[in-house]
Amino acid sequence: MIICGIETSCDETSVGFFDTVERKFFSCTSSQIDIHSLYGGVVPEIASRNHTLNIRNIFNEALKLGNIDVKDINLIGVTYSPGLIGALFVGVSFAKGISYGLNVPLIGINHLMAHILSAEINNDIEPPYLGMVISGGHTHIFKVDSCYNFYLLAKTLDDAVGETFDKVAKYMGLPYPGGPEIERLAVSGNEMKINFPIAMKNEINFSFSGLKTNVINTIQFKKYKLEDIAASFQRVVVLTIADKINKAIKLTGIKDVVVSGGVACNGYIRDSLRNVVDGNIFFPTKKLCTDNGDMIAYATYKLYRKKKFFGFGDTAVDSV
Ligand code: KG4
Ligand code: ZN
Repeated sequence: MIICGIETSCDETSVGFFDTVERKFFSCTSSQIDIHSLYGGVVPEIASRNHTLNIRNIFNEALKLGNIDVKDINLIGVTYSPGLIGALFVGVSFAKGISYGLNVPLIGINHLMAHILSAEINNDIEPPYLGMVISGGHTHIFKVDSCYNFYLLAKTLDDAVGETFDKVAKYMGLPYPGGPEIERLAVSGNEMKINFPIAMKNEINFSFSGLKTNVINTIQFKKYKLEDIAASFQRVVVLTIADKINKAIKLTGIKDVVVSGGVACNGYIRDSLRNVVDGNIFFPTKKLCTDNGDMIAYATYKLYRKKKFFGFGDTAVDSV
């Protein structure tokens, strides 16, 4: 079976193909980071327009890469939510076009669900497990049962963790996206220098706005080196994520935990989270942590086999 996955929810136009017989993935991605960094963040209308310009070429390039004939496609999946509405509209319209033209089924895929399932590609892991997304727009923990029902356990009440990285970086004078910049800066910093507090320790939900203000005030105070602030900030981010994951483990008794999304590219977070979580942590590869068509193709495969189609009732993930 050849499955096509289409992703246009934010600033990456990506098409991936999953050959289920050979268990191989072929994908092509165009990132718009260079365009949006001029504005310090993603501009939705510019993102939509660039998806429109890119999608056909990216689709053809991915076909070429996998040596796949368009007529060999058996199933299509596309991100339908959550994301920038105009950007999603481009991917869904394109997917509907090929689905209609080739007369093959089309499934709508939830972006967060795809981020979490992608850990199954490079890890020997099956649900039930806990699935966490840490990205520019989301900080969510789900319980994933063996039928791939998603139940929301925790989320941020204000800023997402990636958003906090981006805003802190902006105050340090670093370019967008700030996450990789802070990671680089933190390498030469002392993470024990500043003791930023973990927010809402009695709660399973997250809050990052207090930490963000605290870090920004510390930057403006000019008492500490930026390297030390970056390292101390990363340390408290890890401790905060671990605190909530440990609460979710206690609540559910499930010890396998997937952590995915753009922030999960961070090497420090990948290395140190394992030491402070009372369970087994699984990450997708760094390439799979960012937005990509492979994860959409893989989620399409899993949900098609479970007969879970667009609008499937009780999945809490649909309401976020
Ligand atoms: O999943 P993603 O590519 O897009 C969204 O769905 O949001 O995540 C982008 C976010 C940005 O906030 C970016 O700063 C953050 O992921 N990010 C990182 C790193 N690489 C990307 N944050 C911390 N460390 C990184 N190395
Ligand atoms: Zn994402």
